[in-house]
Amino acid sequence: MESYKPFPHIGTDATHAGQDPDKWKCRAVVPLISMSTTFKQSAPGEHSGFEYSRSGNPTRNCLEECIAKLEGAKHAMVFASGLACTSAITHMLQVGDHIVSMNDVYGGTNRYFKQCASRMGIETSFVDCTDATKVQKAIKANTKMVWVETPTNPTMQLVDIEAVVNVVRSTKQDIFVVVDNTFMSSCMQRPLDFGADIVMHSLTKYMNGHSDAVMGACATNSDEKCERMRFLQNAFGPVPSPFDCFLVNRGLKTLHVRMKEHMKNGLAVANYLEKHPNVEKVIHPGLQSHPQHELAKRQMRGTSGMVTFFIKGGLENSKAFLQNLKVFTLAESLGGFESLAELPSIMTHASVPESERAELGISDQLIRLSVGIEDEEDLLEDLKQALKAASVV
Ligand SMILES: Cc1ncc(COP(=O)(O)O)c(C=O)c1O
Repeated sequence: MESYKPFPHIGTDATHAGQDPDKWKCRAVVPLISMSTTFKQSAPGEHSGFEYSRSGNPTRNCLEECIAKLEGAKHAMVFASGLACTSAITHMLQVGDHIVSMNDVYGGTNRYFKQCASRMGIETSFVDCTDATKVQKAIKANTKMVWVETPTNPTMQLVDIEAVVNVVRSTKQDIFVVVDNTFMSSCMQRPLDFGADIVMHSLTKYMNGHSDAVMGACATNSDEKCERMRFLQNAFGPVPSPFDCFLVNRGLKTLHVRMKEHMKNGLAVANYLEKHPNVEKVIHPGLQSHPQHELAKRQMRGTSGMVTFFIKGGLENSKAFLQNLKVFTLAESLGGFESLAELPSIMTHASVPESERAELGISDQLIRLSVGIEDEEDLLEDLKQALKAASVV
């Protein structure tokens, strides 16, 4: 793993960026939770930068400044959820525009493009973006946005961000590239460094890391895009609560520490499962067996706690495994300090049509683990006993 690039300042930036105590009259070291919906004006239209909490909030600002720094961006904006952020980004398009999206995206993103954006007259082509030439072929005269996720959820394929950006730039100038960075967090991957226009997160996952707030974010270097997004956020209103902003801001302070543990435990689990007789196959970008392992080393700073594997047998074996886990909890979501396990075909990806799931390889044997920061030995022991209970051999 030494070949991953180190990330020199993330811990310091997460601790201090946007957190200046001099922002507050009382010089609070920890940002205050400003619950006020409105702010006093000295004369009509003369205010201190805040008028009404939908258009701007002091606690939200601290978090946005911090996220911008972590992503190496000029601007960041936070939203009421990851999907609220996805829909705000998509609102930059208009009737008649076209999106090229990675075929293997989070089920909710797939559902949003297919069942919501389509009703606003925005069409989406789902293509295999692991091959940049396929992205190029899918671009039409009305294409305005390319949306990728890397690693993908749940099949852990990697998209070469730089290659996609290059084909987009050489094909058509007015397309922007968005990367959903939820699976890696700003600690392990920075898409803007590879030329992406917007990086997006479900903050609900690794960035907050404590499974107690639903929020989303995006970051960009474009003043124009930021201005449009701020307008859209204020105009249609998907803002997070100041308390949730406080929680995520607090969560970010331990991001680099948590990610090291997630990476270590994730790799230990992947290595263990790869040798297990009841396991058909493991997909993890840190394994030599991952077909894009070299790209992982080039593009990522490390790995997270996400591990996908195929259990031997059928649906009954998957269910037996999941129901016998004791340390891992059978639940949707990912990226919290606690280990979770789920069956995407029935849970997170149930909204993806069956034929598409089959094409992507999301079978009833595919199990997704979000490996937490508990002790490695206990996690491996738990997997051992649950695999034994679900045994076909
Ligand atoms: C990769 C990815 N992107 C986006 C989302 C949506 O985020 P949220 O649930 O915060 O709306 C999720 C949620 O699971 C996700 O896993």
